[in-house]
Amino acid sequence: MCGIIGYIGRQKAPQILIEGLKRLEYRGYDSAGLAVVDNNNRENKINCVKVVGKVKGLEPLVSEQVLNGSLGIAHTRWATHGAPTEINAHPHCDCKKRIYVAHNGIIENYAALKSKLEQEGHKFQSETDTEVLPHLIEKFFRDCSLEEAVARALTLVEGTYGIAVICEHEPRKLVAARCGSPLVLGLGNKEYIIASDVSAILRHTRQVIYLDDGEMAILTSDDFNVVDVESAMRGETTKQIYKQIQEIEWDIKQAQKEGYPHFMLKEINEQDEVVRNALRGRLLMEEGTAKLGGLENVEDKLRGIKRMVIAACGTAYYAGLIAEYMFSEFAGLLTKTEIASEFRYRHPILDEQTALLNISQSGETADTLAALREAKRKGILSLGIVNVVGSTIARETDAGVYNHAGPEIGVASTKAFISQLTVLSLLTLFLGRQRNMPATEGKNLAEELNLIPEKIAQILKQQKYIKKIAQQYAGYEHALYLGRKYNYPVALEGALKLKEISYIHAEGYAAGEMKHGPIALVDKNLFSVFIAPYDTVYEKIISNMQEIKARGGKIIAIATEGNKDIKKIADDVIYIPPAPEMLSPLLTTVPLQLFAYYAAAERGCPIDQPRNLAKSVTVE
Ligand code: M6R
Repeated sequence: MCGIIGYIGRQKAPQILIEGLKRLEYRGYDSAGLAVVDNNNRENKINCVKVVGKVKGLEPLVSEQVLNGSLGIAHTRWATHGAPTEINAHPHCDCKKRIYVAHNGIIENYAALKSKLEQEGHKFQSETDTEVLPHLIEKFFRDCSLEEAVARALTLVEGTYGIAVICEHEPRKLVAARCGSPLVLGLGNKEYIIASDVSAILRHTRQVIYLDDGEMAILTSDDFNVVDVESAMRGETTKQIYKQIQEIEWDIKQAQKEGYPHFMLKEINEQDEVVRNALRGRLLMEEGTAKLGGLENVEDKLRGIKRMVIAACGTAYYAGLIAEYMFSEFAGLLTKTEIASEFRYRHPILDEQTALLNISQSGETADTLAALREAKRKGILSLGIVNVVGSTIARETDAGVYNHAGPEIGVASTKAFISQLTVLSLLTLFLGRQRNMPATEGKNLAEELNLIPEKIAQILKQQKYIKKIAQQYAGYEHALYLGRKYNYPVALEGALKLKEISYIHAEGYAAGEMKHGPIALVDKNLFSVFIAPYDTVYEKIISNMQEIKARGGKIIAIATEGNKDIKKIADDVIYIPPAPEMLSPLLTTVPLQLFAYYAAAERGCPIDQPRNLAKSVTVE
């Protein structure tokens, strides 16, 4: 959570920082702030402005105060310690307002550090954990460089950080460091940008370096240097770490709305293409299998595993639950999907015949990363399905497959989920064919998978119709989503989408569990959504629908084209094209995303940035 950005170069920093912050706003949007060194001022005074709420609130403040230096840092906050107030907004400064820090992460031992610093005479302004950093730097900044003072401060800190630091005493330098929170360095022509992710950098350069934990970047407008924090602490800042420069494939257009009112709607509409991109070059039709380049090095190890554990959070966790059905049924591989935040605490049994698969759009989710590190400590094979190239999970797993879904900016995950399901279907083919799946079955699955993009495009054509239905139900306060087998996790995902963007209370349930409790909720304030395509559990779910209807409940059904009978039970029906059961979630999810979107739009909700949420959850 929280987005940070820093700029040093020859252009005016405030505009670049604000523009970059807007791209990072999905990481948190409680408050924002920016600090810029005024190079026109002999003392190189740092001016700082802050605002409660969205980044755009900074624009008038910046022009009022004529901030125009070419070195600055900025921050958009998702509050952890202290309410979202102007005082708690970043950047934070030392007692003399000469050192400013923007921070993403949590300083876990801040209370002890703060009380010691207060005893030493430091005066704190905010309730944040972050503020200990500028005061610690102030304490150590005597007869040494800024980077040395920052490094000394960091060695006292427990927790996670991605920080950017500027200081009046060294007005042509920006210091950044990372431990547990992502930081990417963009390399421009005589200018550098450090940011929480590449979307804030893309407009300026595609050449980037990913900082690793324990590393510090020292930037001037002419040069950059990456060192480890330990060496910097000893003043050994000439001992450079060799960092590989990477070229970003994403382009700036992908990170813009391109005429859509919200990123979420744009991203839903990209999903046919997203599946094509995830499949491109990976389906071997003749052989009835999948070619996954990222797994080539571990192919033999994968053949030998007897158990797969999947760890993920939120929507990615639901993709994992669907994979549990896929891998068991088609690859004969015992699979267990775990909520990443619970994984470590249940003493997981991980032997050498087990592999851990992490699924994460951002590749930065703290709990998923913690699960991965736990698996690595135990020495088992770790795999990743990740969208953001170069993210921490992508870099720390032994092997993996990228989604190639392009940047997902709406806080509600849509296209990432569909691409995760696509990659998981490919992985099912791959694992299945390594084991007992007959070639004919593999070919059939490959052919069906190839048809999915066109089928998604057909569903997307029904947007007006789905919008009308959503508008009818937008006034309800409760919803129950029900599905069975492959579509049980889809029910969970449909409910999550609705609740997170429309604030309608929604619960997802396995339809068979309905009679064990949730049916008591059925009344005029609640509607039910049944995911009921033609599949092996179709008859069973129809019985469940009847049970709700008998109690006067309102029903929306997602059903297979041509199913006229279902209209006799459901009040509203949204049709999807036929598909094999295993692939049906790739289709049934899409109308649920559109339904949630249009219900939220009808209720006037801030769809791309729902209250209290952040896209990338980098704290545990
Ligand atoms: O980046 P990740 O896929 O690891 O993120 C996991 C969850 O935080 C994410 O899916 C979250 O639940 C979304 N808001 C759901 O729409």
